Amino acid sequence: MGNRFLALSRWVLIVALLVGLSGETCNTKDDGTDCTSSCGNIHNISYPFRLKDDPKHCGNVMYTLSCENNITLVDIPPSGKYYVQAINYHNQTIRLVDPGLQKNNCSSMPQNCPSLLGYPYSVFYMVSTPVFYIKCSNPVNSSLYVDTAPCLNINASSLVQQKTYSYVTVGVMKVGDLNEGCSAEWVALALYSKGYNTSYESIHSALMYGFDLHFWLDDEEICKHKWRKYHTCYPHTIPGT
Ligand SMILES: *[C@@H]1O[C@H](CO)[C@@H](O)[C@H](O)[C@H]1NC(C)=O
Ligand SMILES: *[C@@H]1O[C@H](CO)[C@@H](O)[C@H](O)[C@H]1NC(C)=O
Ligand SMILES: *[C@@H]1O[C@H](CO)[C@@H](O)[C@H](O)[C@H]1NC(C)=O
Ligand SMILES: *[C@@H]1O[C@H](CO)[C@@H](O)[C@H](O)[C@H]1NC(C)=O
Ligand SMILES: *[C@@H]1O[C@H](CO)[C@@H](O)[C@H](O)[C@H]1NC(C)=O
Ligand SMILES: *[C@@H]1O[C@H](CO)[C@@H](O)[C@H](O)[C@H]1NC(C)=O
Ligand SMILES: *[C@@H]1O[C@H](CO)[C@@H](O)[C@H](O)[C@H]1NC(C)=O
Repeated sequence: MGNRFLALSRWVLIVALLVGLSGETCNTKDDGTDCTSSCGNIHNISYPFRLKDDPKHCGNVMYTLSCENNITLVDIPPSGKYYVQAINYHNQTIRLVDPGLQKNNCSSMPQNCPSLLGYPYSVFYMVSTPVFYIKCSNPVNSSLYVDTAPCLNINASSLVQQKTYSYVTVGVMKVGDLNEGCSAEWVALALYSKGYNTSYESIHSALMYGFDLHFWLDDEEICKHKWRKYHTCYPHTIPGT
């Protein structure tokens, strides 16, 4: 089991190295920067992004988006698919919304786990902030805990007649921050803001607006005539080899 896993991970690494070396030399002609695609509200899908059906040379395969029913989606396994709301090439951010959330229905919940979001995207906690869904066995009187009633009434399941109270908190939490009798059930991401309102409806609207992830855009000038691997440029001739 351990050996097989090691063998497998070595194989994955080799494939990653091959892909990194073969596809991505930085030459100015065929680097996928001259394509622009459009899907629904996203009119400017260009390098490093590409749509699944775009010609192979467009964009970077790591940043492949799909267009389904005129909606732009990004799949970030193992977290899942998200709706793309906007791409800001200047800030290098992509704004995403969880597909479980429905407009004007504050009973709708996010379905993906954003703590599984990762490469090639990054969460910056001064840009996007976690929203924790918390279940408590007793009512909590704290300005940090926003009551989710009547949107989410997590009524006691029929077996045990025990009422539970449902809250959200906005912002990073430390281990000791959970009140007694409370447990975190879920987490979502929202844009960082100092003034989140004390109503769950407004927090739900903020979730509907989406959160930003950072993506890396290589500087073509820096990379010109050099090998590019893992977003780093290397000279063609590596000293000492
Ligand atoms: C797709 O969305 C664009 C922009 O919102 C719109 O102009 C176009 O008509 C839509 N196409 C379809 C097939 O719904
Ligand atoms: C699309 O984005 C690229 C890269 O930022 C930019 O050069 C181009 O002008 C944009 N086009 C439109 C139509 O916004
Ligand atoms: C992103 O860029 C826009 C302008 O393109 C700017 O108004 C905004 O403040 C920037 N946001 C961040 C987080 O840098
Ligand atoms: C609102 O969302 C909840 C939870 O997903 C769902 O059960 C309900 O049917 C939705 N209501 C409407 C009007 O779509
Ligand atoms: C919650 O606490 C505040 C002050 O900490 C107090 O004024 C208020 O009456 C309390 N509310 C309930 C329902 O206990
Ligand atoms: C929760 O329980 C209350 C009282 O038993 C009931 O009126 C309400 O409809 C229940 N809500 C849900 C969402 O099941
Ligand atoms: C908070 O909600 C109130 C009432 O809905 C609204 O007037 C106010 O602008 C909101 N504040 C923020 C910071 O969203």
